Amino acid sequence: MSLKRRASARAHPNIALVKYWGKRNLELNLPATGSISITLDTLQTETTVEFDPQFKLDRFELDGQPDPARLPAVSACLDRLRQLARCSHRARVVSHNNFPTAAGLASSASGYAALVHAAAAALGLALSAAELSIQARQGSGSAARSIFPGFVEMQAGQLDDGSDSFASCLAPPDHWPLAVVVAITSDQAKSQSSSQGMELTRLSSPFYSSWLQDIEIDLPQARRAIKDRDFELLASVSEHSCLKMHAVMLSSKPGLVYWNGATVECIHAISSLRQRGLAVFFTIDAGPQVKAICLPEDAEQVALALTAIDGVQRTVITGLGGAACSLDQ
Ligand code: DP6
Repeated sequence: MSLKRRASARAHPNIALVKYWGKRNLELNLPATGSISITLDTLQTETTVEFDPQFKLDRFELDGQPDPARLPAVSACLDRLRQLARCSHRARVVSHNNFPTAAGLASSASGYAALVHAAAAALGLALSAAELSIQARQGSGSAARSIFPGFVEMQAGQLDDGSDSFASCLAPPDHWPLAVVVAITSDQAKSQSSSQGMELTRLSSPFYSSWLQDIEIDLPQARRAIKDRDFELLASVSEHSCLKMHAVMLSSKPGLVYWNGATVECIHAISSLRQRGLAVFFTIDAGPQVKAICLPEDAEQVALALTAIDGVQRTVITGLGGAACSLDQ
């Protein structure tokens, strides 16, 4: 490749319902278990990658600012694709999130999904969605799921080289158009990465092995709930998975406490909405934001109840979103 090549892509964050928290291989970033997620609409990362023989170094800009802290991971992602394309050109990567970065809204998921999609296209690589998912996984485990739309399952895989560890779509968004109300309780970026947190949990939580074992029970139940559009079953599996994950986070040494006071208030508010007959459940990732999953007709009411809580800065209502896609003609 001698000429400069440029491509742009968009990807959406995803929210895990059956959570991933633990790796079987750190180097290849292989998850210890499978996971199930929903891809969101509304929230998105848009990324342009330009390879140029004139560039001396890779550069990465996020939301208008150079981002040297994330550059090594971005470059490592580009290196894997450059190797496939047999190209040594450095790149300029410009990325925009329309939501807060690294505060538990899965910005790394949409970020790496958009990055590998755009970089592969710019390098002229015709990768399948599964191959893109494998590339995205090496940037961030949850990013493997953001390649796909709607309801998505990630396979842990068994092979040492990770070639069977990728995601696939369980059902498109219109199979069951759920809504997600995100209650933002803090715009602060988290102090510790998920990778560091997972490693701490693996090494120190006395409950880590039970956590991994239990996921094998949750996965088929969540798959069935999605297939049958069984809201009650999906609510019970998802809340249980979320609370079990936070239990192993809390029981790590030192404990990982991702919640603030408003996070806990949101949990109680969502439980009481459900007691009053609304179809809604919560999930929370490695940050203080609360995601309430509900039927679209109830989303405004859920958002109103969560906005009224002290410490909730704002809410964002999303639906289920599409696959990572090209922004070029
Ligand atoms: C709590 O995908 O960010 O959101 O693979 O180390 O980059 P790395 O981790 P990451 O972890 C996501 C953890 C989670 C649960 C989930 O999305 O399944």
